[in-house]
Amino acid sequence: MLVLGMNRWGCGTRIIPSQFNLGHPLSGVCLASSDPPFQGPSILGLLSPSFTYLDALKSVHVPEKAIRHIGGRLISAAERIVVPTESNTESLDAPILRSPIHTPVLVTEVLEFLLVKSGGIYIDCTSGEGGHTEEILRRCIPDGHVFALDSDSDALKAATARLHRYRSNLSLICTSYNQISTLLALAKISSADGIVFDLGLSSLQLQQSGRGFSFSKTEPLDMRFDATNGPTASDIVNHYPVDKLTHILRTYGQEPRARFIARAIVQRRPIYTAVSLAGIVATTAKQSRKGLHPATRTFQAIRIAVNDELRNLQIGLDQAISALKPGGRVAVISYHSLEDRIVKQTFQRESKECICSTEILRCVCGHKQQLQIITKKIITPSSNEKIRNPRSRSARLRVAERIHNIS
Ligand SMILES: C[S@@+](CC[C@H](N)C(=O)[O-])C[C@H]1O[C@@H](n2cnc3c(N)ncnc32)[C@H](O)[C@@H]1O
Repeated sequence: MLVLGMNRWGCGTRIIPSQFNLGHPLSGVCLASSDPPFQGPSILGLLSPSFTYLDALKSVHVPEKAIRHIGGRLISAAERIVVPTESNTESLDAPILRSPIHTPVLVTEVLEFLLVKSGGIYIDCTSGEGGHTEEILRRCIPDGHVFALDSDSDALKAATARLHRYRSNLSLICTSYNQISTLLALAKISSADGIVFDLGLSSLQLQQSGRGFSFSKTEPLDMRFDATNGPTASDIVNHYPVDKLTHILRTYGQEPRARFIARAIVQRRPIYTAVSLAGIVATTAKQSRKGLHPATRTFQAIRIAVNDELRNLQIGLDQAISALKPGGRVAVISYHSLEDRIVKQTFQRESKECICSTEILRCVCGHKQQLQIITKKIITPSSNEKIRNPRSRSARLRVAERIHNIS
């Protein structure tokens, strides 16, 4: 049934209403656009838990040309979703539930700082397998709503089963968090009570995506969160010149041996799998003092480049801040200093009334303070959490609140 939104702001926002079940043949496609004849209400229908809207959408005619325009990439066989009807309601009650692979990080702290309340509107920008989403839902039902976003449709499928029981309070949306403003406009929601980002990649992606995130796997070099969009790790590894590769390894991996590694990569092309890339890097890089695999920085750098992670974070964060209600909070968990620096600097900038250079005597910037920083010191996991979940070791949480009177 309906799977994707096409809109004036760009194709690529696939919308998976949470009450849809998975694993059935795709029965149709609906486009939602700001242009006639697919105007506003159809988008609302896509996002609404109401069956009435979904029924209305069935009658929308989708021109062949429009489908071609958005390309096969938006709907793949793997994304089969069925609208519940009377004849298939049984399938709705039987989502395939398995234990999540990913253990959510700093959950207690995130919930405490977000002040989640019943009836609130929340956005989980990186829902993954739905760990944080589930806890927010628990606290905002029966009247609240969570928009759970992720670029990775496989992750959202896992979340669909887990969050099934909250389906009337949830919209699972396969899109980048750089689309928050568009999403809220489409949903006709002016602002949110809380927004959370849990950056980076999940254990599910590392262990089971088959996309070459882990250096121990014989998997193709893909590394895209959204496996339908953009260049792959293989494009970078096998086609970029030494200088460009060096720049990526240095900037996004903070790799001191960037040029050596880049040269080795270029000499050993073509490189097909994650494990081969890791092997090549290991022959050139020094063993890390922290006992990390020598390819850790290289893999981080390539993944950041593939997914344009730092630029997306800046865009997403700016949009999130604008999307908050007065008193609403944004919480960001980052896993390395490049991400954390963006969060810290953005919070600092937005908590100032003036951002003019200190040499200027009279303010000319016109900047307005939007935030108050809540976590004066970064929050890190307890030693217990680090033992229970070693992946949490590098996590840092920062929280800020939208101020009430923006002058
Ligand atoms: C650390 S995991 C989140 C785990 C989740 N909080 C949980 O408890 O299951 C990060 C997620 O962010 C997603 N992601 C990365 N970049 C994104 C982007 N620009 N927009 C939306 N999701 C993104 C990844 O696909 C991944 O699923």
